[in-house]
Amino acid sequence: MRSSTSEKFDIKENEYQPVNGTITRTHNFTEDDKLFEIQLLEGKDLGHQPGQFVMLLVPNVGEVPISVTSSPTKPGPFELTIRAVGNVTNAIHKMGPGDSVGIRGPYGTGFKPEIFEGEDMLYIAGGIGLAPLRSMINYSLDNREKFGDLTTVYGAKEPAEQLYTDELQDWKERDDMEYLETVDQCPTDQEWEGRIGVITTCIPDVNIDPDTTKVLVCGPPVMYQFVLEELDDLAVPDENIYLSLERNMHCGRGLCGHCQMNELYVCTDGPVFNYPEVRDKEEAEV
Ligand SMILES: Cc1cc2nc3c(=O)[nH]c(=O)nc-3n(C[C@H](O)[C@H](O)[C@H](O)COP(=O)(O)OP(=O)(O)OC[C@H]3O[C@@H](n4cnc5c(N)ncnc54)[C@H](O)[C@@H]3O)c2cc1C
Ligand code: FES
Repeated sequence: MRSSTSEKFDIKENEYQPVNGTITRTHNFTEDDKLFEIQLLEGKDLGHQPGQFVMLLVPNVGEVPISVTSSPTKPGPFELTIRAVGNVTNAIHKMGPGDSVGIRGPYGTGFKPEIFEGEDMLYIAGGIGLAPLRSMINYSLDNREKFGDLTTVYGAKEPAEQLYTDELQDWKERDDMEYLETVDQCPTDQEWEGRIGVITTCIPDVNIDPDTTKVLVCGPPVMYQFVLEELDDLAVPDENIYLSLERNMHCGRGLCGHCQMNELYVCTDGPVFNYPEVRDKEEAEV
């Protein structure tokens, strides 16, 4: 649980001035995906909720939004998992323990775990979409008595692309959460005894009561439409579905319009939305 002695980072101290963070640990999951543990100046606590993001400043390169992947129940430094896709993300991949970055946030609405207390939960994560959902999954496991049935479904492109493999093993062995995983394909030079097929092939096999289960979904944009169709087949009401959406961002504060989706700003109204909020928004692509 969060340390009672840790001091919460107060964003209002200076909203636009990044706070100094030091990388304390890194871990390579794949060639492109790397975990960064970051300690804020003076040991301050980030004070985030699952599903929120920070604006990460890599000095002299630029700033990008990145979800916090650790649960707020884990005291001390927080964790980001970053896929190297361009300028800023490739630059941070070259950094290591002792290096400094700037942090603004936490920003966004997050999953608001308190509204799910007492509920059955189904988490559906595709690829790096597991990064934000992991925060919520571990939050509910660390507060197990506050939640009903828990089910997690995770799909990766191939076995070597799985993130958090030690933790996945733990989830597999737990008897207080059902865990299903799949890979799209298994190249001949990799080992895999599990399920092969896209993530939607797992959904008919989940054992949930559609009326009492809240479903949180996070993954690449192409995944949402197909997952939503499968959830419809299971008769999950739209109001029970929550989606975490990504858009290009600049300010993270609802000012620049970079992340605008119709009348919604993904940085401040989201990134987590209840499905009916975005269902009819053409730009939401869901
Ligand atoms: C709320 C939120 C949470 C995020 N969480 C994570 C996370 O936990 N881990 C992570 O690795 N990434 C995350 N991202 C995506 C990350 O912000 C982008 O990958 C990053 O901004 C790319 O910046 P760059 O300078 O490295 O790439 P650039 O040089 O700017 O661009 C490289 C390529 O990436 C594309 N790109 C740029 N921004 C995005 C974006 N937001 N989504 C998809 N493609 C993009 C560009 O179109 C281009 O093709 C998140 C994005 C948002 C909005
Ligand atoms: S990133 Fe500027 S308005 Fe959302």
